[in-house]
Amino acid sequence: KRVAILISGGGSNMVRLVEDMQRGGHPATPVLVASSDPAAAGLARAAALGVPTAAADHRAYRGDRAAFEAALLEPLLDARPDILCLAGFMRILTPAFIDRFAGRMLNIHPSLLPKYPGLHTHARAIAAGDTQAGATVHEVTTDLDAGPILGQARVAVLPDDTPETLAARVLDGEHRLYPLILRRFASGSRERCDL
Ligand code: GRF
Repeated sequence: KRVAILISGGGSNMVRLVEDMQRGGHPATPVLVASSDPAAAGLARAAALGVPTAAADHRAYRGDRAAFEAALLEPLLDARPDILCLAGFMRILTPAFIDRFAGRMLNIHPSLLPKYPGLHTHARAIAAGDTQAGATVHEVTTDLDAGPILGQARVAVLPDDTPETLAARVLDGEHRLYPLILRRFASGSRERCDL
């Protein structure tokens, strides 16, 4: 299976996915890393791992979401991906874009969905007094952060946690969860697997 990964920044989840695919015995291979920001540090990390990269600067298409997505789609379609992974991708995609990858598009969200869709998930979990937090890998549908859940990683919320310390613990959970779920998804499994 050919996997393309969309990023917007550091790309730490992308690195774990690529490294796992390069480990051998994996049903998928990375064919492209594309970013919504041409300055994303993840682009250099992908190139260092030997993965082709592309970027469409969302700032160059301010307000014209369709034009931004057309620019992103060009290298993406050239790569002929079977699976599209959003990994720290910070733009909202239109239903027209999502429909092109229906049933073969994954995202990782830093909360235990359905709790805390959207942004600032760690501050919201702390404010709510939650004792657990985590990350969710789900299939992307046109409802934001609401597609079928493929797996979750649970971590503790500690009494002295700040959004930053919790974010670091959740990110570690993401790094364990996403490679596992992509291996299963690429081998045809749709069964949920939690950590
Ligand atoms: C992190 O906040 C992570 O929780 C979320 O996207 C952000 C950046 O991740 N998934 P990455 O390091 O770019 O993968």
